[in-house]
Amino acid sequence: MKARQTCEAPLPQLISDAEHPDSHGILNRLELSAPDFEHRIHRALDTAEQELQSCAQGSADPRIAALTGHLAAAGGKRLRPLLVLLGAEFGDPAREGIARAAVIAELVHLSSLYHDDVMDAARTRHGVPSANARWGQRAAVLGGDWLLARSVQLAADLGAAAVHLNAQAAARLVAGQLRELTGPAPDEDPVEHYLRVALGKTAALLSMSLGLGAVQAEAPAPCVAALTEFGEHIGIAFQIADDLLDLASPTEVTGKEQGKDLLAGVPSLPVVLALAGDEPGDEELRALLAAGPTSDPAAHRRALELFGRSPAPARAASVMYERLDRARDTLTALPPLAARRALHGLCDFVGRRSA
Ligand code: IPE
Ligand code: IPE
Ligand code: MG
Ligand code: MG
Repeated sequence: MKARQTCEAPLPQLISDAEHPDSHGILNRLELSAPDFEHRIHRALDTAEQELQSCAQGSADPRIAALTGHLAAAGGKRLRPLLVLLGAEFGDPAREGIARAAVIAELVHLSSLYHDDVMDAARTRHGVPSANARWGQRAAVLGGDWLLARSVQLAADLGAAAVHLNAQAAARLVAGQLRELTGPAPDEDPVEHYLRVALGKTAALLSMSLGLGAVQAEAPAPCVAALTEFGEHIGIAFQIADDLLDLASPTEVTGKEQGKDLLAGVPSLPVVLALAGDEPGDEELRALLAAGPTSDPAAHRRALELFGRSPAPARAASVMYERLDRARDTLTALPPLAARRALHGLCDFVGRRSA
């Protein structure tokens, strides 16, 4: 058997001085005027954050802990933990295991980032070098696997329902990523294909986060159903916002390289719409996109510039707004709690975020 090669770079020591991520960022921007509710969610986010950091860096081997704790320590908005906590508000949020459920959702997310950055050859994530940039592809894939395995361990502590939700979301997420890799079937509309990809790679976990929180808090079944449906719609909208940010926002805003979807050949919605369009003036952009991913910095800059004038981003934004409307509609099935207002606020946040 061929001897196993070592990682491309040595595993450094455990990160001890990394900045604490802003796990309250989104909540602080929802303008809820519900101090008791906000206080409860802030406290739960803190508890989940502490558990997340210790789980992600939980290996007894400090070199492995450095790898697996890397992205958790570096930042992130913690949207999925927030969704778990908001879902739990529709049952009894004081029930045991809610903070753990929040950690499970973020571990699945972090695992997907390790893998996604390998797929996209991304160099930067959460404002720091990606795991693959720092430790090489093989270590990054295994780091992502380790985090997913940890999420399953935690779910097993919560019981069969949590394991089931976790496994289903992970399977949908991976299927979405695979569907993106394989591209549309010969008779498949590229926008339909995009929506199926986004449902898998992004919406599945947002939906699961809300559902897991609600199930763990023993919320009534109609609430669980409305919350998971909300998650599917806002998940697609969130992915479109992310696609638009990829084109328009610098690393200081996103913590990722600007235009990396173009560099990696990711068929984001603005790209799909630009390629399918026939607007005069978009020919140069279409030609650049049709030539495939480029490593030529001038062509990359030019494509970003042309997107600034193309109608494709605005068209993608209208698909996003339509999904946000559908998400808001599903909220009418929920009782009028502060958490419902927070979910409304989240729709506004996603819509503003893409701008
Ligand atoms: C990034 O998600 C991956 C997508 C599903 C678009 P987030 O924007 O929520 O990732 P964080 O906040 O950087 O962790
Ligand atoms: C999200 O899609 C994919 C997952 C992490 C599952 P993106 O490829 O758009 O995510 P970013 O932009 O790299 O964060
Ligand atoms: Mg990516
Ligand atoms: Mg993206």
